[in-house]
Amino acid sequence: MNTDFSRAPIDPQSTERLAAEGLRLGLVDTSDGTAFAAWLRAEARGFHGSHPADESLAEQLHGYADRRTTGVWDDRAADPASPVATASSWPAALTVPGGSSVTAWAISAVTVAPTHRRLGIARAMLEAELRTADGLGASVAMLTVSESTIYGRFGFAPAAMAADWRFDARRATWTGPAASGRVHFVSLEQLRDEGPPLVERVRLAVPGQMEFSGPLWTRLLGLFGEDKDAAKHLRAVRYDDRAGVAQGFAVYRVTESPMDFSAHTLDVKYLVAATDDASAGLWRFLLEVDLVSEVTAGMRSVDEAFVWQVSDFRAVSATQRDHLWTRILDVKTALEGRRYFRAGRTVLEVSDPLGFAATRVLLDVAEDGSASVSPFEGDVPDDAAAVALTVNELSALYLGGVSAVTLTRAGRIRELREDSSTTLDTTFHSPVAPWLSIWF
Ligand SMILES: CC(C)(COP(=O)(O)OP(=O)(O)OC[C@H]1O[C@@H](n2cnc3c(N)ncnc32)[C@H](O)[C@@H]1OP(=O)(O)O)[C@@H](O)C(=O)NCCC(=O)NCCS
Repeated sequence: MNTDFSRAPIDPQSTERLAAEGLRLGLVDTSDGTAFAAWLRAEARGFHGSHPADESLAEQLHGYADRRTTGVWDDRAADPASPVATASSWPAALTVPGGSSVTAWAISAVTVAPTHRRLGIARAMLEAELRTADGLGASVAMLTVSESTIYGRFGFAPAAMAADWRFDARRATWTGPAASGRVHFVSLEQLRDEGPPLVERVRLAVPGQMEFSGPLWTRLLGLFGEDKDAAKHLRAVRYDDRAGVAQGFAVYRVTESPMDFSAHTLDVKYLVAATDDASAGLWRFLLEVDLVSEVTAGMRSVDEAFVWQVSDFRAVSATQRDHLWTRILDVKTALEGRRYFRAGRTVLEVSDPLGFAATRVLLDVAEDGSASVSPFEGDVPDDAAAVALTVNELSALYLGGVSAVTLTRAGRIRELREDSSTTLDTTFHSPVAPWLSIWF
């Protein structure tokens, strides 16, 4: 990826389209404190956040300075220096099945001022982001969304779901393995320094996880921006294995129940475990904290081992939703970037109204799970499966968490040869459920 992504030229097509409406699409120079602060205030307003305090603004000016920062300005507005729309983006490693990464274009901070909504500004910005990402060589774009109704039209689809878990701590007696190590309290500041190498160490084990640092990390500890007050209520524990090596940590908050002092709620804000032993040690600790009757853990994997480690299945429940949305831009690079779980050949006829991923290819998976993808014309070979799908379905399948059979039953994949969706399913399916542990 071009290292100067933040300064890559602004997309001419969207610039022209917005100029026809009297609007100016441009890049923010994040070293210009006044201009960047105006952008940050506009972004906060776009998400209905509070006015950023000076201290928080100063942190954000520093913390977000390395992102590509785009805005739209209306020179007829009462405050023409304040953008009427915002977006930011950066390249980030995205874990794909098989324990490797592809370069994905992370898009964030998409807002359009309520005074300028539904004029096509978001469309112009999103399409500009996709063309820019494609031009810079990102094979996939990705985002986490405020509403799941917005991004399908741009070729995105949910590729990693998330679950909000709830335990009845009085019923959920631990029956899993006894951990061999120990849990220690640590300070949030200590974790701020020690945490990232652990997070990065486990990142490749789960498709859908992304490389992150800076505010996306310190925010989890309540140590960044407007959320800073949150740190007052957070506790952190670290799990060290028998040899004394740190193998995981958890950050949590206990909220008092004023009416019943033995019915507090413990909310797990973030938990990382590099080993099954660490996972058992940390979850057991959290489930056994005194005075707690309910444990909640949001934005977790939909497939957690702890379900099988407590005495009562019905003491654990989950609400599931879409979380990480991906959008394939370069079919060959994206598909060759991951591993597959069944050798064989599949013809994929991919349609894409925006053009990036429109192609007909042969995906040829070798015995070791690696794949080659090549343009394909002519009749489907006798030994190959064949399907027609849009870039949305291909993007949903990409991380291996969505069933091709289900998408076919839903009428979203068309089999060009009988039973091809079963083949596609076993080829793409990941044994580890895709999961992204943060939002961005
Ligand atoms: C979502 C938001 C960015 C849309 O901006 P916008 O400039 O009004 O959107 P556009 O006019 O470009 O609309 C583009 C298309 O998306 C549709 N659309 C826009 N917002 C939508 C929404 N919230 N739900 C469903 N469809 C939406 C439009 O109808 C239009 O559809 P079409 O082109 O297929 O006819 C804006 O409403 C906003 O800032 N919302 C609050 C912040 C937010 O949620 N941002 C998204 C962060 S992930």
